[in-house]
Amino acid sequence: MNNNTPYEIIGRDEGVKALAGAFYEAMDELEEAESVRKMHAENLDLIKQKLFEYLNGWLGGPHHYKDKYGTICLTEPHQPYPIGAEQRDQWIACWDRALEKVDAPEQFRAMTREPIERMANFLVNA
Ligand code: HEM
Repeated sequence: MNNNTPYEIIGRDEGVKALAGAFYEAMDELEEAESVRKMHAENLDLIKQKLFEYLNGWLGGPHHYKDKYGTICLTEPHQPYPIGAEQRDQWIACWDRALEKVDAPEQFRAMTREPIERMANFLVNA
């Protein structure tokens, strides 16, 4: 596997799992993320696992989400939730906090910045 993928830089499956966990912990903690937090179930265990599986492939590692759910399209699972610019910004704020929580390497932050913003923008549906 390519040593220069974000997946390798963050520490492979274990690193991606820590990042996904930190992401939803940030969502729980950040007052400014209250409206996106409310869209989610009280228990975040399943969504932590799903985000880990998704990001793992998206960052250049094994495609756990695709293997399990047969698709990488996120449009449909987000359809029931009205996502506007405000929710997008809250999601990105959680991402930024998660990067700090896991002390993500600068290179990882730089490589993922634009792609994650594009992805979040793409999911705006309201
Ligand atoms: C733009 C702002 C976003 C909002 C407000 C948002 C919100 C949500 C919500 C409410 C769910 C359903 C949670 C549940 O089932 O309890 C969800 C699912 C999910 N989101 Fe997002 N999301 C956003 C962006 C993203 C981005 C950028 C990614 C990936 C890089 C992502 C990855 C996922 C995944 C993998 C799932 C699980 C899908 C499934 O059920 O199989 N989301 N999101």
